[in-house]
Amino acid sequence: MKRLIAFGVTFLLLALVGAPPAPGQPRGKNVEKLMRAKLKHSQVLLEGISIGDFKKISASAEELLQLTKTEEWLMHKTPKYQMHSNEFQRAAETLIRKAKEKNIDGTTLAFFDMTMSCVRCHQHVREIRDAKWPNAPSEALRFVSTDFKLDSRSP
Ligand code: HEC
Repeated sequence: MKRLIAFGVTFLLLALVGAPPAPGQPRGKNVEKLMRAKLKHSQVLLEGISIGDFKKISASAEELLQLTKTEEWLMHKTPKYQMHSNEFQRAAETLIRKAKEKNIDGTTLAFFDMTMSCVRCHQHVREIRDAKWPNAPSEALRFVSTDFKLDSRSP
């Protein structure tokens, strides 16, 4: 179990390393707020899983699920983006269910699924940006750092 949690922490860190701020990029206030809330609730979620606090787990998973219903959530309209978004929602729903059942292994696995969807969706967003602005300076348009060593598909 401890190993599972350690993996969870690693995955979350990967997701976060995968999404550092993109300086100079114009972004709406609401999008900014959404991204901050996403980060905050996933950190609380990890805290809940680490200490076995099921109330914390379901409350933060519920918050994350609600975020997916905001207008800002579907920033891109590609089928892949939608697919990652669906995976994220399914993982949040599973988290809530498993937390109700007080199933720590189940919540941890659902947390992995959710974190994978963070990473995959961010990868897809990078692809979209590369396709839109192939010759643009990388720092300005890529919110995922190029020294993301554990991901061999990163440019
Ligand atoms: C369905 C797609 C999708 C999923 C799933 C997703 N994100 Fe994101 N995320 C985005 C997009 C799009 C942006 C970039 C917004 C922009 O253009 O600046 C982003 C940006 C971010 C940022 C801000 C980066 C910055 O530039 O400031 C953070 C932090 C973040 N995501 C965390 C997460 C975490 C943590 C998860 C999982 C719990 C997650 N995201 C899941 C689409 C997604």
